[in-house]
Amino acid sequence: MRKAWAARLASCTAMLFLVAYAPHAGAQDKARAARAAASAAAKAQQGTAAKYAQRFAAECAACHGANGRSDMPLTPVLAGQPSLYAITQLFLFREARRSSDAMNAVAKNLTDDDLRGFSDFIGTLPPVPAPPPAASPDPARMAKGRALAEQHKCLACHGPALSGGQQVPRIAGQREDYLKMTLRGFQGGTRAGYTQAMTAAVSHIPVDDLDTLAYFVARFPQP
Ligand code: HEC
Ligand code: HEC
Repeated sequence: MRKAWAARLASCTAMLFLVAYAPHAGAQDKARAARAAASAAAKAQQGTAAKYAQRFAAECAACHGANGRSDMPLTPVLAGQPSLYAITQLFLFREARRSSDAMNAVAKNLTDDDLRGFSDFIGTLPPVPAPPPAASPDPARMAKGRALAEQHKCLACHGPALSGGQQVPRIAGQREDYLKMTLRGFQGGTRAGYTQAMTAAVSHIPVDDLDTLAYFVARFPQP
């Protein structure tokens, strides 16, 4: 009799214990599982970032520079470029809507994940100021360049520091030869934009003034 009662009490206590603690234990398990999943995702993300850092060094740095500041003629600086701008351009190259022998060949075989991986990596590259110019900038040409940039709203879209953001590129300190080529390209229709913004912005600017803008933007005073 006593034994039976004791057994019932024991099982009853066990039930109470279960009722009292089971949901709590379940929540803890869930929290633990969520933490494990989050840390696995963070590790995977770190893995992806490391993979594209390595691929950039192997596949892109020869032309664009290891830190993203190219010293190759007509090859743009990528350091400081927003990732959203980079991904739209990689997409345009892959679809051959923006034409460049070098970049169309590079982008042809990139997957969507590659476009994201490379542009996320580019987005982490801090801006690298242009090396000091051989000759100090011509003040009259710089003043003319600034007036043109204000008149044509370059500073309104690219920002007062010409540092861009989102889908608008950083242009301050970009290579002058590349700026000259690309501004002429937007005007002449050889460079297709992701939007019509640039074609509209430069369509009525005389070529001499485009070159003055390139001179000014390349030497734009940087912090
Ligand atoms: C053989 C040299 C070369 C290699 C390798 C190369 N690029 Fe380029 N890249 C260029 C040139 C040249 C341009 C400018 C194209 C043009 O408009 O004429 C460019 C343009 C770009 C642009 C557009 C930049 C802007 O300001 O509009 C991005 C983004 C870019 N490259 C990313 C990459 C990535 C990522 C890789 C590696 C997977 C890579 N490039 C490999 C030469 C190269
Ligand atoms: C209405 C907004 C707007 C205005 C005004 C504007 N831009 Fe742009 N600019 C853009 C956008 C957006 C892009 C990206 C091009 C694309 O659509 O693919 C761009 C691209 C560029 C590029 C190419 C950069 C690269 O790395 O290849 C240069 C150079 C440039 N702009 C210079 C200028 C200059 C100089 C002016 C003034 C004459 C100007 N922009 C006015 C929005 C603007």
